[in-house]
Amino acid sequence: MSEQLLQQTWDALQAREADIRNEFFEILISRYPEYLDRLAQPELLEAMGSIDNLLEMVTWMEQGSEERIPYIARLGALFREQGIDFEDMDRFRELMLEVLDRHGAEIVSGWSAQHLEAWNEAFELCLIPHLLDSMQDAA
Ligand code: HEM
Repeated sequence: MSEQLLQQTWDALQAREADIRNEFFEILISRYPEYLDRLAQPELLEAMGSIDNLLEMVTWMEQGSEERIPYIARLGALFREQGIDFEDMDRFRELMLEVLDRHGAEIVSGWSAQHLEAWNEAFELCLIPHLLDSMQDAA
């Protein structure tokens, strides 16, 4: 995973933080309205599309031990309790990439498939496996 590409896109996309977050949430709910019923507090999902939160999470996961990652145990327990699985996380990955690609192409100079792949790997190799592990630990 290229941390440099992640950092570069993050720096450039920060100006769009709020737009990206809102768009992620709106598309998610319009495409998968079932989350409104499945989750106890679906409005909390709005924080999920935050690139600040995602990048912060990648950094913790790359650098820290599992026990020291803030709120991972809480998220693991919450995901278990609400029946969230790999398929749900994969939907989030796909949707987030879609939104990032649109904004990236507009405002990141030299935006390429490699930038998108760096984000894809952040999800596939780091975020999703750690979240699945935290659900196992919450068992
Ligand atoms: C790709 C997978 C996912 C990643 C990287 C991820 C990341 C995060 C992050 C960083 C937060 C904390 C936001 C904050 O409080 O600052 C969060 C919270 C939350 N996530 Fe996820 N998430 C993923 C998948 C999911 C899925 C599939 C669902 C449900 C369908 C979900 C539901 C929630 C909820 C309800 C919260 C709020 C928890 C609370 O504050 O009590 N997440 N997630």
